Amino acid sequence: MDYDRTSVPDSYDAGREIADDKKRAFVAEFAQITGTSDISKIIDLGCGTGRFSATLADVFDADVLGVEPSSRMIAQAREKHDDPRLSFAEAPGEALPVEDSSADMIFMSMVLHHLKDPSRVALECWRALRAGGMVCIRNSMADEVGTYPYLDVFPSIRTIIERQLMTRAQLVDVFGQYGFSLKANETRWHDIAPNWSAFAEKMALRADSFVAQLSDAEFETGLAALREKALTAPQDESARLRVDLIVFQLD
Ligand SMILES: C[S@@+](CC[C@H](N)C(=O)[O-])C[C@H]1O[C@@H](n2cnc3c(N)ncnc32)[C@H](O)[C@@H]1O
Repeated sequence: MDYDRTSVPDSYDAGREIADDKKRAFVAEFAQITGTSDISKIIDLGCGTGRFSATLADVFDADVLGVEPSSRMIAQAREKHDDPRLSFAEAPGEALPVEDSSADMIFMSMVLHHLKDPSRVALECWRALRAGGMVCIRNSMADEVGTYPYLDVFPSIRTIIERQLMTRAQLVDVFGQYGFSLKANETRWHDIAPNWSAFAEKMALRADSFVAQLSDAEFETGLAALREKALTAPQDESARLRVDLIVFQLD
């Protein structure tokens, strides 16, 4: 998806905010699998507004290059961060602006389903990483579309999601063809809002790219239903998204 042709960049940070402690916990899970001592150069591929870039630099004590094709997303990343460990480059994952074998780790959060050519991105990861380098992926997978928290209120969103997400098997094939082996694959529930009214107000910002693809009429009707549901849901019940934490290692 070309984010610059949508309104998603305008509301991304407000609509997709994750508390710092939660972000740190996600990234620390990857660090437990990869270790941190051999990782000093990270590419945050499809970094968007840099939601994870600073946390990656902190947890791994590493330099992070955020690579992002949307000029409106990367402009926000640049504006928000003045940490000397962070730099940003406007480019797609299919053409990483780095030397061969120059990175220790490539991180991708919720990017897989936006790639024009996932196979080309896997080839670029192979080129950019040193031997033994890792690709760490945080993404929902097509295998669990049924767990999305708003399927009941937006009738056509399931088809949109199914069309875009990859299955685990497809992902393993895409990276496997370039000699990456699967080092870890764990599934987690990530809190995306502390309760259903907070979730409805996040969805109202239409910063979720699947929600952004709905017709205005379906969006408005579904949002009203979500707000209605929030009135009766327990106030301490969080809205959660099922995501995979996947690590590939280059032989
Ligand atoms: C859901 S956002 C995720 C941003 C960030 N990783 C995060 O977790 O907040 C998806 C991002 O992927 C970017 N994207 C789309 N096509 C891409 C491509 N071919 N290569 C790299 N990133 C791409 C979009 O511009 C957008 O910023």
